[in-house]
Amino acid sequence: MMNSKLFLAVLAMVCAEEAFSFLLNQYPLHASCKTKWDWPSTACADVVSALEAQIAKWNNTECGSGEKCGYGLTSKTSTQLQAKHVTPVKHYVDDLTFTFKPEGGGSGCQVDGYSTSETWYAVLDYSTNYCNLHNLITGAGLDKVSGYSEQTSDSICTQFSSANCEKY
Ligand SMILES: *[C@@H]1O[C@H](CO)[C@@H](O)[C@H](O)[C@H]1NC(C)=O
Repeated sequence: MMNSKLFLAVLAMVCAEEAFSFLLNQYPLHASCKTKWDWPSTACADVVSALEAQIAKWNNTECGSGEKCGYGLTSKTSTQLQAKHVTPVKHYVDDLTFTFKPEGGGSGCQVDGYSTSETWYAVLDYSTNYCNLHNLITGAGLDKVSGYSEQTSDSICTQFSSANCEKY
C-alpha cells in the first residue's frame, strides 16, 4: 500500500516536471508575445495613426464573438505607443507596446510589438497575447499594405502557431 502511494507520487512529480519542461522549451516562460512587422513603403507616422485609430475604435465592450474590443491607449511618444487590452469575459489585462523605427530614409517603418499578461502566473494564454497584437494590425488593414511582413515564432510568442484570432 505504502509503496504504491509512493510510486504514484513519484510518477505525478515526473509527469509534472515533463509537462513543465515541455512548456519551457516551447513557449516563453510567461504568457507573452513579441513580433516584428515591416512596412517597407509606409511612413511610421501613417502606421502610428492607423494603430491609434484602431485602438480608439475598439475602446468599447462590443466584442461580438471574439476579443476585438476592450483596448485603450495608455501612452504615446514619437517612437512608441502603449495600450492595454482587457479580455471580455474574464477581464484579464494585457499590456501592449509598439515601438516604431523609420527605415529607408523614412519611407518605410519597422515596428516591434510586445504583449504581456499582467497575470504573473500565466504561462499559456490561448495565444491571446499574439491576437492582441495581430487583431489590431488586421483590424486597421495594415496586413493588406504592400510589402507587409510579420515575424514571430512559438519560442517568443505563446501558442502563436495554434492561434485562432477570430476567437481570442
Ligand atoms: C478606453 O480607454 C481608456 C484609456 O486607456 C481605458 O481606461 C478604458 O478602460 C477603455 N475602455 C474600454 C471599454 O475598453
